[in-house]
Amino acid sequence: MIVVFGSINMDLVARVPRIARPGETVLSRRADSFFGGKGANQAVAAARIGQGGPERVAMVGAVGNDPFGMACLKNLEDNGIDVQAVRITDEPTGCAFITVDETGENAITVASGANMALRSMDLPDSLLSKASVLVLQMEVPLADSLDVAARARRAGVKVVWNFAPPPAVKERAGMAELLEATDVLVVNEHEALAIAGIVGERMGDDYLKAAAVLAQDFGSTCIVTAGAQGAYAVSRDGTQVHAAARPIIPVDTTGAGDTFVGVLANGIAEGLEITPAVERACAAASLSCLTPGAQAGMPRREALEHYLAQA
Ligand code: RIB
Ligand code: NA
Repeated sequence: MIVVFGSINMDLVARVPRIARPGETVLSRRADSFFGGKGANQAVAAARIGQGGPERVAMVGAVGNDPFGMACLKNLEDNGIDVQAVRITDEPTGCAFITVDETGENAITVASGANMALRSMDLPDSLLSKASVLVLQMEVPLADSLDVAARARRAGVKVVWNFAPPPAVKERAGMAELLEATDVLVVNEHEALAIAGIVGERMGDDYLKAAAVLAQDFGSTCIVTAGAQGAYAVSRDGTQVHAAARPIIPVDTTGAGDTFVGVLANGIAEGLEITPAVERACAAASLSCLTPGAQAGMPRREALEHYLAQA
């Protein structure tokens, strides 16, 4: 089983000709709501690709006792995800305010709400003991993610940690500890450099060097997602694997990184080698960019296999 410990949001999305600068107002025709939150997105990506396979997905998260929260819960269930460990809290459901420009690029502000009420003890030992992979991001309290990672490590569960979004400097205590508990670290180019900076390495703009240092120092595999360049996986022994992304014209890149992480987690849980796991995750992330919203474009296994066979 794959357990995702992370955020659940409702995304409110406006398409804009360009993303507003500070102090500026930009008009958009309308707003649409989509299911989101990095944790929930990754759970849905893993569940869709795992359909028909042996790996089930469980979500551990927190929502509010409000219409957004109930809709988010139902959406997870509709995707075949175990939601027994999603807690309903007094805080409002997390909400993300997203603008997407004409090139498919986005800017996101997350109002965390209930996500910050998530605690390590929301993941019961009885669920952790069924897991082979635990997936973490950075949208719930770091101390609790850290505790969950340590528990997973003791239980022999592989930890996949997506360092997104990178936190403010003052919130970075405990980061090295979390890295030590991580088996597979997933970052984008900027996050690779940010995390290297946190542990005291200045890398300029060489994100692959940063990935190599992180992999070596913390004994983990470091995977860097590089947008149109695809993804690189650097192992602790310095071996580097590259998976190319297919050329696409993106409609909405929101959730592409989450698709990558969810599909990668499924590959790891199914025992795939790192190269095919990263290739599959890359292809799924490309496909996810063709549909508006974070989750709608996430492929099911059949669609992904068809896409992979076309190349
Ligand atoms: O990674 C994309 C996600 O980030 C969005 O769905 C939004 O909810 C934010 O958490
Ligand atoms: Na999308």
